Amino acid sequence: MTDTITPQTAQRFYDWLGAKHDLGSRFERQAKDRGLELLDAGSAQQFLNVGVGTGKEQRTVQAALPPGGQSFGIDLSREMLDLTRQRVPETNLCQANAEQLPFANGRFDRLLCTYVLDLLGTAVLPQVLAEFHRVLQPGGKLVLVSLTEGTDAPSKLLIGLWKTAYKLHPLTCGGCRPLQLQTLVQQARFSILKREVVVQLGVPSEVILAER
Ligand SMILES: C[S@@+](CC[C@H](N)C(=O)[O-])C[C@H]1O[C@@H](n2cnc3c(N)ncnc32)[C@H](O)[C@@H]1O
Repeated sequence: MTDTITPQTAQRFYDWLGAKHDLGSRFERQAKDRGLELLDAGSAQQFLNVGVGTGKEQRTVQAALPPGGQSFGIDLSREMLDLTRQRVPETNLCQANAEQLPFANGRFDRLLCTYVLDLLGTAVLPQVLAEFHRVLQPGGKLVLVSLTEGTDAPSKLLIGLWKTAYKLHPLTCGGCRPLQLQTLVQQARFSILKREVVVQLGVPSEVILAER
């Protein structure tokens, strides 16, 4: 039993959504840019993006990597993986579930996950964060960007409406609901280095930088 959409529904929905997903950029761009800035791909050697989507962030990451650096991405949706492959042919991609990452312990020094945890079931979030902890090396950095609770009157109003729409039909909201991840990230044995809320066009996003 899940309190969100199932992985099967997410896969079908994002296969259908494909490139249309980029229309959401106008609400998410600033938070994603801040997350990328905090993660500093320019000094990464092994970079993993969980839930790569259409590949826009992966293109930025790949372009910033130093010589010898490698980028990897996973997603449940084949359509999303195809779109990322077209945008970033140099990146290493595979179809996988964030709940069970197909990588060895300590494989990465950076991990990015934007607008994915907010569509996963509450019960699986600790397992997913444990996977992020497992595949990062000691000192490795994690950035999470997710829809969150409002911080001012317009964003609180918008999130109130969002929750109502989500209750009626989660897919009208892309399957995403607001989260506050700080406690779960600490329980997963990460140290939080920064937490910010970025509001773009009334949509609040939590940006967390943490270290393993
Ligand atoms: C809202 S989109 C975000 C995509 C991208 N990270 C971005 O910020 O633009 C969510 C993505 O997560 C993928 N996804 C959903 N559930 C997943 C899971 N359990 N494991 C891996 N990917 C998942 C979807 O297929 C989709 O590409």
